[in-house]
Amino acid sequence: MRKKIITGNWKMNADKNEAVSLVNGLLEKYGELNLSENKIVVIAPPFPYIHYISSVFIKHPYFFAGAQNCSEYEKGAYTGEVSAKIIASLDVKYVIIGHSERRQYFRETDEILLQKIYRAQKEKLIPIFCCGESLESREAGDHFTFIKKQLDDCVFHLTEEEFGNIVIAYEPIWAIGTGKTASPEQAQEVHQFIRQQIKEKYSESTAEQTTILYGGSVTAKNASELFAEKDIDGGLVGGASLKADEFAAIIKA
Ligand code: PGA
Repeated sequence: MRKKIITGNWKMNADKNEAVSLVNGLLEKYGELNLSENKIVVIAPPFPYIHYISSVFIKHPYFFAGAQNCSEYEKGAYTGEVSAKIIASLDVKYVIIGHSERRQYFRETDEILLQKIYRAQKEKLIPIFCCGESLESREAGDHFTFIKKQLDDCVFHLTEEEFGNIVIAYEPIWAIGTGKTASPEQAQEVHQFIRQQIKEKYSESTAEQTTILYGGSVTAKNASELFAEKDIDGGLVGGASLKADEFAAIIKA
């Protein structure tokens, strides 16, 4: 059975007090969430809170801390960067790699992202690799080609064993932070396509085991419809992860 994962990506939000109350709000609901080995939650806060969160989560076995990014370099004179090794040493288990905001604002290419994945895996972090088409690509109807290229140019360079230790997140750029969610049918169609590509590249069993998350304006309202689709194994949630009640409702869905 593949893992179901809800990841909260706080992006560059929440000051210290807000972060603490958000975490407390989620911990209060921990017992209601029905989590297990195969149904887990990852919270990816801004770096300054990551160790606080991973320490608090030690007593909550199905909550994990995640990073929003890691450096493509191993260590050394890279002012402002945070390495996979530093992240892993803070009891963090996951790292988001290739979010469209990193690709767009920080010019991260698939080549750079592949280096980040190698760094992360070397430290036993699990990369959550984001892919997804732009609005122009969707409107032109070439979104499958767009996504296939992102896979080919990055994660499909991994061996089957390496690929077995990543999570994929499909995040259509036009749905991120816009309030415009992909319909369950649109999302399912792409998830199925991604799973098929994994099958063709590696094997049926790897395709069946890969967790594929949907991200882009997931809310408590639309979560259960999206998660009911057979190839959608959870969500990567931005805005709605900043409210404990709403995020808990998404986890329950
Ligand atoms: P959103 O962000 O839920 O605010 O649309 C999703 C994401 O960027 O991961």
